[in-house]
Amino acid sequence: MEKEINIAIFGSGNGSNAQRISEYFADKEGIKIATFVVNKKDAYMIERAKNLGIPCRVFGRNDFYNTNNVTDYLKEMDIDFVVLAGFLWLVPENILQTYQRRIVNIHPALLPLYGGKGMYGMNVHQAVIDNKEQESGITIHFVDEKYDEGTTIFQAKCNIAPDDTAETLAQKIHLLEYEHFPVVIEQVVGNLQHNN
Ligand code: GAR
Repeated sequence: MEKEINIAIFGSGNGSNAQRISEYFADKEGIKIATFVVNKKDAYMIERAKNLGIPCRVFGRNDFYNTNNVTDYLKEMDIDFVVLAGFLWLVPENILQTYQRRIVNIHPALLPLYGGKGMYGMNVHQAVIDNKEQESGITIHFVDEKYDEGTTIFQAKCNIAPDDTAETLAQKIHLLEYEHFPVVIEQVVGNLQHNN
């Protein structure tokens, strides 16, 4: 029997994608959402973890960038794969080394457009609206040492209506994320298992 793949979901805030992904995998065999890792102690994602019965750990800047506390925890939890869902810091070198080609991120725009430092959440949607774009979308990509530059795995688009605002665009993007992110994670993890 193949080993169950344990996933850690990293986030910084609301955690609605983390919840959606957890619900998607709750009744599936072979993939388990083993923990949430959060870098803000007031993130609503912590509350969601409690409600879902998923372990959750909060790590601060020092833990991430000056120690092995996070990689030690991931090893302790037997984590095979990392998903960034609204995680707003660069992933440090020690985690990248441990999980090469095993970390994916979702970005709420069509990269390489509207990516890079400072481009997250509502900032992205406001910039897209300000530039009067006619479409936007989501990008799921592997994570490397730069913001939003790893290899693209998947993109999906949505149209922007003349009366869309940053808020209504955010809602459209979230729906795309909920629809596609869990399925793409399942595919990437499945490919990993086949190539091993
Ligand atoms: C999502 O829209 C995600 O794409 C975005 O933050 C939101 C988190 O929402 N991520 C980035 O902007 C990363 N640069 P959630 O916490 O409700 O899942």
